[in-house]
Amino acid sequence: MQRKPHAVARSTTPAIEVHQLRKTYPGGVEAVKGIDFTVDAGEVFALLGPNGAGKSTTVGMLTTTIEPTAGSAWLGGFDVAVESLAARRISSVVFQDPVVDRAPTGRRNLELHARLWGADGAGTSELVETLGLAKLLDRPASTYSGGQRRRLEIARALVSRPQVLFLDEPAVGLDPRIRHELLDVIAGLRARGEMTILLTTHYLDEAERLADRVAIIRGGEIVALDTPTALLGSLGRELVELRVDGDASTALAPLRARDLAGDDAFAVGSTLTVPLHDRSAAAAIAAVGELGLVTTGISSRRPTLDDVYLRLTGDRLAAAA
Ligand SMILES: Nc1ncnc2c1ncn2[C@@H]1O[C@H](COP(=O)(O)OP(=O)(O)OP(=O)(O)O)[C@@H](O)[C@H]1O
Ligand SMILES: [Mg+2]
Repeated sequence: MQRKPHAVARSTTPAIEVHQLRKTYPGGVEAVKGIDFTVDAGEVFALLGPNGAGKSTTVGMLTTTIEPTAGSAWLGGFDVAVESLAARRISSVVFQDPVVDRAPTGRRNLELHARLWGADGAGTSELVETLGLAKLLDRPASTYSGGQRRRLEIARALVSRPQVLFLDEPAVGLDPRIRHELLDVIAGLRARGEMTILLTTHYLDEAERLADRVAIIRGGEIVALDTPTALLGSLGRELVELRVDGDASTALAPLRARDLAGDDAFAVGSTLTVPLHDRSAAAAIAAVGELGLVTTGISSRRPTLDDVYLRLTGDRLAAAA
């Protein structure tokens, strides 16, 4: 039974729909606090957020491994709580922590997974080649290095050619060459538009390059959700970054009071970042000097997604780093 979550008529069923999804773990940790989002078929959607923001918990709820406390979610129109087998049949997941069977060989792992989900295994050899697994396939997975196991997990998730693919920090632990090749694989899947992908990441370049839309999650809440271009645009065309000797946050209130910085200026540790919009960089720099803060470095540049991310998650990220 497929069912539409809302009365609103849609031409196509969204690949992922999340409505007021919430998870409070036993012991009272409110990991996810009632989030909403919709991902269209063929879209690549990135969840960005600092450690402990609730990304893996969200992926866990969408892949039926974590039971939501409240709210609903649908994959391809299937309610993950009510029609969980159907939801799982059309999706695959690469969890943050490895789950492959370690005793069987890599090849056996791939075959078992394909058979479990009724896939014919077509395209497997190409996948194995791209992910650099060809020479490893006949060894037990227990003998793989961490990065090799990660690559096997990714191949395994793809052999069943899911409609919806969940990748929880796919590139962690991969060496730079394999990471780039993996990003190419994901970019290729995106270009073909056959698969909907939800990925979580700390790498902003990944999100910027791959994602059609990005949700920034902090403390279990979505604090921004838009295209990378729109998120970038929110900080204007230029910003000035000042490194000071001391706590940069002490400069924020005085600069704002004199309208030398807007609400979107932010401080992380000893770095003060001031999106200029139409303001003067020179005036902001002079004012920081007058406040008695010694400036150790000044640069003026275009905003990046890192700036958007740090502005929205700053303190926690700094604490977690
Ligand atoms: N089984 C659990 N029991 C209790 N609390 C948990 C459990 N799993 C996660 N949490 C807590 O829920 C919050 C969200 O955790 P989650 O793993 O979803 O974060 P995350 O965004 O994936 O972080 P990371 O970037 O470190 O992977 C954290 O505060 C975490 O400590
Ligand atoms: Mg996680």
